[in-house]
Amino acid sequence: MTQVKYFVFDAYGTLFDVHSAAAKYKDEIGDDWDQLSQIWRTKHLEYSWIYGRIGVQKTFWQLTGDSLDYAITAVGGVSDGLRDKLLKAYLTLDAYDEVPEVLRELKEAGLVTAILSNGDPDMLDAAIQSAGLADVLDDAVSVHEAGTFKPDFKVYELVTARYGCAPGEVSFQSSNRWDAAAAKAFGFQVAWVNRTGQAGEYNDLPPDQEISDLRPLLDLIG
Ligand code: LAC
Repeated sequence: MTQVKYFVFDAYGTLFDVHSAAAKYKDEIGDDWDQLSQIWRTKHLEYSWIYGRIGVQKTFWQLTGDSLDYAITAVGGVSDGLRDKLLKAYLTLDAYDEVPEVLRELKEAGLVTAILSNGDPDMLDAAIQSAGLADVLDDAVSVHEAGTFKPDFKVYELVTARYGCAPGEVSFQSSNRWDAAAAKAFGFQVAWVNRTGQAGEYNDLPPDQEISDLRPLLDLIG
């Protein structure tokens, strides 16, 4: 493995559990809370791909609301006031259990830890503060600076431009297989964080590692 100096993480689904927003209100939503959450996530990503592709500028926050509205309609509606509570909960998502410790150990080993995410800067800031990750992350890079969304290469270039490094010096971690594939095509070292046992795909763009949470990254630093 090329000497890796920068550990860069996707945010939503990789560091933060996007389903923790709906889970928080599962009693109020009812039995289809999980379905609502899955549709919300699926549509959120779809909207980012489409608006990125057609070049219509949207913030990730706008797409968070638009995809939530679709998901609520798709499950037949939710009680009054719940839509706004769910949207707000997206700003304070839970981090996965191992995240603070792994980031802390990477940072203590002298490596740079950063986020590269579709999230708007203020969304990322809110999630980082709420999960108590401010001290263990050096940087949070938002696609906002590139004016588009993943998987446009302009997004991955934000990292190499910021650090003046080669793609091979970056280890990029994402739970989104499509994001891992694009990052691999760009030239990053890639760890696919397959938290939910998804089937493999994009076989022509394999990750360098497939891990079920972030802990095995610590083996890389010895
Ligand atoms: C992100 C989405 C893709 O954080 O999970 O960029």
